[in-house]
Amino acid sequence: MDIYVDSANINEIRQAKELGLADGVTTNPTLVAKENGEFTDILKDICKEVSGPVHAEVLSLDFEGIVSEGKELAKIADNIVIKIPMIEEGLKAVRVLRSEGIDTNVTLIFSASQAILAAKAGATYVCPFLGRLDDISSDGLELLGVIRSILVNNPDLETKIIAASIRTPNHVVELSTMGVDILTVPAKVLKQMGKHPLTDIGIEQFAKDAEKFK
Ligand code: G3P
Repeated sequence: MDIYVDSANINEIRQAKELGLADGVTTNPTLVAKENGEFTDILKDICKEVSGPVHAEVLSLDFEGIVSEGKELAKIADNIVIKIPMIEEGLKAVRVLRSEGIDTNVTLIFSASQAILAAKAGATYVCPFLGRLDDISSDGLELLGVIRSILVNNPDLETKIIAASIRTPNHVVELSTMGVDILTVPAKVLKQMGKHPLTDIGIEQFAKDAEKFK
């Protein structure tokens, strides 16, 4: 199981890397817009920091635009993966980029049928958004289970799942139990994963008791 950092912030990415939690990085336009600097420069810096895949999203929504932007982004570094929104023009672009050896991630997946289309188009990764489904009283984890079954039962579909829009440590635990290929996790949730009040109480108690030996 790989864990990626869902962030464009270089400090968050470095901190996750120190803990072995940066097998890759996913960004999106919203995350990059939070950082200072030019879009391409921000991605270049991330690619220097992380040896695994770094996912960079195209802004175009038409076939020609997506293909040409995808090719430009792919020049940034060898580890760039092109993130493309789940639209028909995007799926056409996935096929072209794949034929040129460029890895793609079809993002904004909210249904199993969308995941099938993306896999058939040749996407290297499909990226279902859990949290945003939970936000509208749908079940993000259930969708992940269905997409995983489809890919496990149809090994001719050579597509990996990246579970995104992860909001809680419990999402991470449930997805790990399911055996999802890749989880992309925000820095905040990575921090929350290590927290437990009983750990804090235990440390405090041991420190107090160890006073005797000082
Ligand atoms: O990488 C995209 C995804 O993780 C977005 O998450 O929390 O904005 O729904 P969120």
